[in-house]
Amino acid sequence: MSDFIRDDDGASNVSSNAHLHQLIEREIARNPARRNFLKSGASLGLIGIFGSALAACGGGSDAPAPGTIGFKAVTTSSGSSVVVPEGYTADILYRWGDPCVAGAPEFATDASQSWEAQEVQSGDNHDGINFFPINETSGLLAMNHEYINPEYFFAVTGSEDWYHPEVAANTKKMLAGHGVSVIEVRKGSDGKWSYVKNSSYNRRITGYTPITLSGPAAGHDLLKTAADSTGTEALGTLNNCGAGQTPWGTYITCEENFNGYFGTDDSTFVPSTLQNRYGLSAAGFAYGWHKGDPRFDLVANPNEPHRHGWIVEIDPYTPTSKPKKRTALGRFKHENAECVLSKNNRAVVYSGDDERNEYLYKFVSDGVYNPANKASGANLLDSGTLYVARFDAGTVTGDNQGSGVWLPLVWGQNGLTPENGFANQAEVLIKARQAADRVGATMMDRPEWVAANRTKAGEVFVACTNNNRRGSNDTPSSNKADGSTTAGSARPAVDEANPRAVNNWGHVIRWNEAGADAAATTFTWDIFVIAGNPALEGAKKGSANITAANTFNSPDGIQVDPEGRLWIQTDGSFNNTGDYVGQGNNQMLVADINTKAITRFLVGPDGCEVTGVCWTPDGKTMFINIQHPGEVGSHPNRPTSFAPYSGMDAFIANNPTAFSKWPDGASAGRPRSATVVIRKNDGGVIGT
Ligand code: FEO
Ligand code: CA
Ligand code: CA
Repeated sequence: MSDFIRDDDGASNVSSNAHLHQLIEREIARNPARRNFLKSGASLGLIGIFGSALAACGGGSDAPAPGTIGFKAVTTSSGSSVVVPEGYTADILYRWGDPCVAGAPEFATDASQSWEAQEVQSGDNHDGINFFPINETSGLLAMNHEYINPEYFFAVTGSEDWYHPEVAANTKKMLAGHGVSVIEVRKGSDGKWSYVKNSSYNRRITGYTPITLSGPAAGHDLLKTAADSTGTEALGTLNNCGAGQTPWGTYITCEENFNGYFGTDDSTFVPSTLQNRYGLSAAGFAYGWHKGDPRFDLVANPNEPHRHGWIVEIDPYTPTSKPKKRTALGRFKHENAECVLSKNNRAVVYSGDDERNEYLYKFVSDGVYNPANKASGANLLDSGTLYVARFDAGTVTGDNQGSGVWLPLVWGQNGLTPENGFANQAEVLIKARQAADRVGATMMDRPEWVAANRTKAGEVFVACTNNNRRGSNDTPSSNKADGSTTAGSARPAVDEANPRAVNNWGHVIRWNEAGADAAATTFTWDIFVIAGNPALEGAKKGSANITAANTFNSPDGIQVDPEGRLWIQTDGSFNNTGDYVGQGNNQMLVADINTKAITRFLVGPDGCEVTGVCWTPDGKTMFINIQHPGEVGSHPNRPTSFAPYSGMDAFIANNPTAFSKWPDGASAGRPRSATVVIRKNDGGVIGT
């Protein structure tokens, strides 16, 4: 077979607040239900709650300001390990195939495990991750398993013809490798974290777990299939990329490139305008699942793709709870879901649609959350307004800043009417990309993760990872209003918020909501950093805060830590030549939001991307994911001959340690995605 498509290659605080902030976080760790009360209240009451402890801290006049960076930067490199700064330790926690659900078997290093084993073991390609505290020394990690690496996923011996999705058990095993893990983790007396095998919290959600479809699109004809005539229960969640965490303690996980799993062998298939807008095609991404499971056949089950592309809410504290696809948040290729509360406690969820020239969205709930009553969050994500962003140049053009408007995607408004193909709000949500086309949203350079700065209300960041299809046409930066554009091939002109043609390195945009209120409908924005390479010329060098010491490409995962540092993870080119010379493997950096200074914190092993980051509430333990170690691509250390096989994938399938043995080293049967725990050896806050 031909090789696979790699689907996503495509305010300052005063110093005395440092102690207060840590105390608040510690209190939240003890009692998560108090999070919003405590967070909202830089409030007077806190003085009473923490006054004595604050006094014991001595007021903090000689402590470093929160959000400052104190470690010695690591240099770029290509190599086989995770590199962290002096004074830090990185431990492997949870690898693809490790037992998850109680009683699960150990991983078979030759990948010979059955689908029955895979569905109770860790999935593949760890991605978004969030920490849910239980107490000071334990909690739950919920994490995504975005996709599987077919060339490493099966036991293959001496076969050119190694990939067989037409064998139903093989396709089911691949589905079992997708989805979500929930695992209990504990800190030992030595400070080291491990996961609790056989914990009753441990849970796998896979590509076939029953999930309720809820919200305005539930039950719509476009969601009905032969297997589900009600359109209210989907099977599984797929291509879970980034994620988020709600104030009421749930995990919200995102379905990104779901389109790639669908296909058909029916030669008469012609994609509809809607299918085309979401990138559905007969070939898909070459997985061929439709050969082993008719659910993925676009002709046999044309509505099945409409049941994917949603945000899924999971209660990790209740292992028996049924996940829900929240259709009010719209259907697109969600990267992550960043949830904050507005000034009046509405739930606000930001989410980028990661494809070239797609859009940035936010949802604002109708209802309000009562921080004193966790149950008040239960169905907040079922009713609200979905908006899409328009970035305007502002009063000056060319200064990398401007104003912006959140455009509502509400049926009956702004052309979202039956004559334009939207019969009701359900169709606005199912066809969210086309609705956004209609209202004139701004085409972005692949909006990846959104990260809110919880130390400054209303401040938010989005990583625009790269876009090699911008600037070659003189067309405006909006798709055709009739929804007939395939955005990825639109090649729009540069604009103020996406200012570089052939943007191979990406950039990070910051915005501040009007009135510091996440529910606002207008905002101001600026570009926080334009990534680039100082070894190159002109615009390729990036913005002034890119230096020879921090050069990187393709920002993807971003999050702001509990003290207000912006962490940036990359999923870009690791070939270390040409546009990317000197940039080495994918990496993680951290930015001081006040000064915009960026420092490299970590470099990942060969072939990986670094993605997903969360912290314990005290900021002293960081969990990240290393995804697809061993992805060969054009890595400088790659095998250079595939003989006797016809291509890279067949060669690697038969020689799975030829390029990478991370993380198992000499005993490895193949590379494995894994969660890594990072601690500062002196027990301090990560990044200080
Ligand atoms: Fe799954 Fe857009 O990264
Ligand atoms: Ca401007
Ligand atoms: Ca990503």
